[in-house]
Amino acid sequence: MTDDVLLVHGGNPLEGEIRVRGAKNLVPKAMVAALLGQGPSRLRNVPDIRDVKVVRGLLQLHGVTVRTGDEDGELILDPSHVESANVADIDAHAGSSRIPILFCGPLLHRLGHAFIPGLGGCDIGGRPVDFHFEVLRQFGATIEKHPQGTYLVAQQRLRGTRIELPYPSVGATEQVLLTAVLAEGVTELRNAAIEPEIVDLICVLQKMGAIITLGTDRTILITGVDELDGYNHRALPDRLESASWACAALATKGDIYVRGARQLEMMTFLNTFRKVGGAFEVDDEGIRFWHPGGELKAIALETDVHPGFQTDWQQPLVVALTQATGLSIVHETVYESRLGFTGALNQMGAHIQLYRECLGATPCRFGARNFLHSAVVSGPSKLIGSELVIPDLRGGFSYLIAALAAEGTSTVHGIDLINRGYENFMDKLRDLGAQVELPSERADEELVSA
Ligand code: EPU
Repeated sequence: MTDDVLLVHGGNPLEGEIRVRGAKNLVPKAMVAALLGQGPSRLRNVPDIRDVKVVRGLLQLHGVTVRTGDEDGELILDPSHVESANVADIDAHAGSSRIPILFCGPLLHRLGHAFIPGLGGCDIGGRPVDFHFEVLRQFGATIEKHPQGTYLVAQQRLRGTRIELPYPSVGATEQVLLTAVLAEGVTELRNAAIEPEIVDLICVLQKMGAIITLGTDRTILITGVDELDGYNHRALPDRLESASWACAALATKGDIYVRGARQLEMMTFLNTFRKVGGAFEVDDEGIRFWHPGGELKAIALETDVHPGFQTDWQQPLVVALTQATGLSIVHETVYESRLGFTGALNQMGAHIQLYRECLGATPCRFGARNFLHSAVVSGPSKLIGSELVIPDLRGGFSYLIAALAAEGTSTVHGIDLINRGYENFMDKLRDLGAQVELPSERADEELVSA
């Protein structure tokens, strides 16, 4: 499909203003939460991205009516008539996203059973869902795995339980929250993830009538209630997309105002951005990011769960680090194989060497397991346009940044994947002055001039 290929003519700074809306890693989950309510929910600041479309489709299959509201980016979700969906229809969503796994708890509460298709999501590691199923078993669900998906049944009302996660998984924490709120009794979750998107989901659930205490030391206490209502919520802004544009500004020596970006959830990123030599200015409406001139500085970086440096910020930042003077060290501790995208950067002229050792202050789960999860980036490197195939969402956006920073033209294949998490990225790129072109547009022009 030619429209899945983008020609990027690099070498120009990105300059101007773009807007980010609600977080990809909150909005689809807040949509799932609507299933738990007796009445309709109103979710605002919803971006037009594929993960939202997938969840909308799945909700509709289960009898939830989903319509747009009067406000731009507003969805009204009415779960008054939740019903079982046809397994073949659900299965058609197999491989499309990781969100379907979060339907388990709400469907078990509403229907007593659930069918979850095979999951999609980015190929950045094994991405198992063992924690999710273990947690659901603890609540009292029975689980049967079949080749086309997983069947879950709750013979009776699910019961609150004590859970300690082996690792503070975002998805497993959300699974517990979405299940515990209507379970009988109290649930104690230890070693929970506390990413800002999780806290925003807790806000959504509290608005619905849930009782959730975010304790110290990654402990969350949930007191189950008998019934929840709908909610009215404005999704928190996408701090991951905001950081991607910040890195694009830095790598292309540009200047981008990201309307909607918020300091609170980006503090760790902003500190790192400043250490590398990037400049930023926060106001009430957004954050301006720019390259202030001069050399960028090499840094040592370790990804971690919140409040550490978010793994999804790592890939775009690595592109900017190829332009920093000296040796930067990157230790990826959340996913075992999120550095594979660097091969293509090397092909463009970067100097990045991967290591199996933990090159960071904290030894992580991957050090003894033979995963190439540390990188040394030697810069600055002149990047040259190349032929690139997008490997995953953030890696894909990083390739766009690299292509925009490079001299010459790059042909980037698989750009459709970026629509999973970046709203209208083509329009935004053009608004910032990027010279990008779809081969189909070029063919149209040739036809017109012929
Ligand atoms: N893990 C397990 N077993 C499980 C669940 C997780 O071993 O049952 C491991 C994973 O393999 C991984 C680690 O725990 O090594 C962390 O995974 P987590 O469950 O936290 O990730 P997730 O919920 O699948 C969400 C985001 C990711 C983001 C991570 C970490 C969504 C839809 N995805 O994934 O976002 O990187 O949390 O913050 O919310 C992205 O936006 O590009 C993206 C990949």
